[in-house]
Amino acid sequence: MENDTLIFALPKGRICDELIPLLNTCGIEPAADFFDPDSRALMFDTNRPDIKIIRVRAFDVATFVAYGAAQFGAVGKDVLDEFDYDELYAPLDLNIGHCRLSVAMPEQQVGLEDENAASHIRIATKYPHLTRLHYERKGIQAECIKLNGAMEIAPVLGLARRIVDLVSSGATLKANNLVETETILHITSRLIINRTALKTMPARMNGWIETFREAIERQENAGQDR
Ligand code: PRP
Repeated sequence: MENDTLIFALPKGRICDELIPLLNTCGIEPAADFFDPDSRALMFDTNRPDIKIIRVRAFDVATFVAYGAAQFGAVGKDVLDEFDYDELYAPLDLNIGHCRLSVAMPEQQVGLEDENAASHIRIATKYPHLTRLHYERKGIQAECIKLNGAMEIAPVLGLARRIVDLVSSGATLKANNLVETETILHITSRLIINRTALKTMPARMNGWIETFREAIERQENAGQDR
């Protein structure tokens, strides 16, 4: 790869659909194979010779950028707070990927026990750090069982009575007879920059921050005009 190529890390899944129009407004258009559902490629060219895109899991976006394997990217506030990487600079709220991190439990168990009276509870989650912090503040010790997806089936199978997971429309909770009992964090996606890249290429990276800032403003203004 050319030495001066910048890698932008983009998360798979729903945020991707919201992020592409923003990238387009920034003048970055992924090559056609990015949109090919049969493509197994992970790295893609763009219309700009100096930019390539990688598409990885959201947690891995933070890892690639923190280690400088990608210079910038987009990731949810959930991922930023769960890992708290020193090497990540998150200057901008992209105003996309709106969702929340919440506690949920089976509908029929709500109110059966006083959670605040318990000193220890068990929770299935992809976010053990944020979950422990949330319960520590209430003086409760949370035993977290780490899952990587499909948290919603944990309660019915007796793995844990509660889950902590992302909620967007609420459809997944509903389909699994769970109800939200607390919101831990309101989430949006953020632009992230590797701090070393910012130090070694300040004009270039600050230029991109400015380009994203203007693109967000333009999208927000277009939204207001609609
Ligand atoms: C997320 C999350 C929930 C679901 C919530 O998973 O983990 O399962 O979305 O969305 P809803 O409230 O609109 O139903 P996602 O589909 O992103 O896939 P993942 O399990 O791979 O994280």
